[in-house]
Amino acid sequence: MSFITRRKSLDAAPLAQDLTTHKLRRTLSWPHLIALGVGAIVGTGIYTLIGIGAGMAGPGVMLSFVIAGAVCAFAALCYAEMATMLPQAGSAYTYAYHGVGEGFAWMVGWSLILEYTVVAAAVSAGWSGQVSSLITQWGWPIPHALLAPPGAGGIVNLPSILIAAGVTAVLLAGTRESATVNFILVLVKLAALAGFIALTLPVFDGAHFHPFMPFGFGATEGADGAKHGVMAAAALMFFAFYGFDAISTAAEETRNPSRDLTIGIVGSMLLCTAIYMLVAAAALGASPYDVFSRDGAPLAFILKTLNHPLAAALIAGAAVVALPTVIMVFMFGQTRIFFAMARDGLIPRALAAVGPRGVPTLVTLLTGAFAALIAGFVPLKQIAEVANAGTLLAFVATALCMLILRRVAPARPRAFRCPAPWLVGPLAILGCLYLFASLSRFTMIFFVGWNLAGFAVYLAYGRTASRLARDGGAA
Ligand code: ALA
Repeated sequence: MSFITRRKSLDAAPLAQDLTTHKLRRTLSWPHLIALGVGAIVGTGIYTLIGIGAGMAGPGVMLSFVIAGAVCAFAALCYAEMATMLPQAGSAYTYAYHGVGEGFAWMVGWSLILEYTVVAAAVSAGWSGQVSSLITQWGWPIPHALLAPPGAGGIVNLPSILIAAGVTAVLLAGTRESATVNFILVLVKLAALAGFIALTLPVFDGAHFHPFMPFGFGATEGADGAKHGVMAAAALMFFAFYGFDAISTAAEETRNPSRDLTIGIVGSMLLCTAIYMLVAAAALGASPYDVFSRDGAPLAFILKTLNHPLAAALIAGAAVVALPTVIMVFMFGQTRIFFAMARDGLIPRALAAVGPRGVPTLVTLLTGAFAALIAGFVPLKQIAEVANAGTLLAFVATALCMLILRRVAPARPRAFRCPAPWLVGPLAILGCLYLFASLSRFTMIFFVGWNLAGFAVYLAYGRTASRLARDGGAA
């Protein structure tokens, strides 16, 4: 079983300062990365899932945001150190390969599929909720059967399939183009949230915050199998916070990895946390949680109830225009993780082939197809929880590797060093495990099954095809 623990040598990994030759084009700098981060973080979580989260925790969803945000902040610090220490495509997968070993790295890469492809699917489904809000408001004759998946009273969620396909096409056009489109749309998204806050704060009613935790703090399972409480909502709303890690997947395409990655990851995380707190407080102050929690586009819904139909249409419209940036960032991240895994021989190398525009074409197409299928046929809450499970493992792996590499490679240059690592690292790991334990039972069982299937794939293919296995040494 030594193949499970064989590790990539740190000596073979490029340092941030000597990355000069590679196949992906080096076109991004820190403003692109902050835009990439904000583009990935602010999305379906705050525009759509906030309603479901409020329904699970009541006004206590504010606390859920704080808990999920704190866990992400600890993880972000670990990511910043790892991303600047190992500035290669692959994110947590690459860290695990160097820090723990090939078997664990494979499991992390396999889980990152849950994070990136499934998140792209979840945001496509959330986007569809916003489109449906506009369709309803404007009375367009599109049947509900074509707007919702089978588990939510429809046949297929057609808009989400269309958007996943559209974003795939943009990604195929090349990285620089994608980042520029992303930058403009991030501004639209932030302007819409600022508008929401400006319109709702004047009607802020503190009475909406009592009782604060109608379903209690811990995640408790009801008769229907669904979990409620602040922690259950935190485990779902965690979705709203992550995305900063997608920046580290672009490490090989940044001009100055040491500076750009640090500013990109930490900066976008802090900015988004502040925005979320404001939007959540404004929403809860403007409308009782049990009223807006039932709508698929809760922010637009609140504005409609406040008699701002035009603003409601504008915020749903802004989400429709801007949420594709989130899908784009996660699809981009997924293709780079596949790229790294294929380069290591753990999945067929043909997948890593880079086309003339510097884009791994085949893997981009595959990612888009899977995201479209999931978004078209599975309800949003289920997709988001499954994505969270995969992300939580990636965060645990990153924090663990940060601690291990502090021990085994203390002298290797790190452009960013996590403060108080022996406190922050364990807090990130324990926080992620607590959030995982608060997920629904279905999600946990699915996650275990997914990883068992993944391990079987590894034993059948990656174990022998791995570049480390073939070279018998460091890759
Ligand atoms: N944080 C991202 C979102 O909320 C995944 O859409």
